[in-house]
Amino acid sequence: MSVVKINVLQVPEGRGEVLEQRFASRAGEVEKVDGFESFELLRPTEGFDRYLVVTRWRDEEAFQGWMKSQAFQQGHARSQADADAASSGGHPGGGHPGGGQGDAPQGHGGPAAVGSELWHFDIVTSATKA
Ligand code: HEM
Repeated sequence: MSVVKINVLQVPEGRGEVLEQRFASRAGEVEKVDGFESFELLRPTEGFDRYLVVTRWRDEEAFQGWMKSQAFQQGHARSQADADAASSGGHPGGGHPGGGQGDAPQGHGGPAAVGSELWHFDIVTSATKA
């Protein structure tokens, strides 16, 4: 059964649009990766200040392979550059190396997101419209 990996991005008020624009002009590398099934960027509506990137993979190996791949690097080139700039410039709140659950890449931060956390799930039951 497929696995679901959710990247939870903490986005300061007013920066959501920047994040959404980043995703709108994303690299589109992930679609080419073996074992990738789908992803959605979810914008919070009421009472929650974090965006969710919900991804679905054939299995754990496929997800881990992507995390280590050039496709991942290329898909995060700009967010990584932002994070580097934020931590070297001593930007408050920028760069929380090793934050989250430890297995997300280092250097969270930059203008769009100030933190991230990775949630792991197995799919137990699923359905789509008949
Ligand atoms: C350090 C933590 C992370 C941050 C701050 C972050 C932020 C971003 C941003 C801003 C983009 C848009 C592209 C860009 O600006 O470079 C992006 C792309 C993406 N992110 Fe992340 N991300 C992180 C880790 C992850 C993780 C662990 C996952 C998996 C659940 C994930 C899933 C995706 C996907 C699927 C894309 C689209 C990539 C493509 O088009 O090839 N991200 N991310």
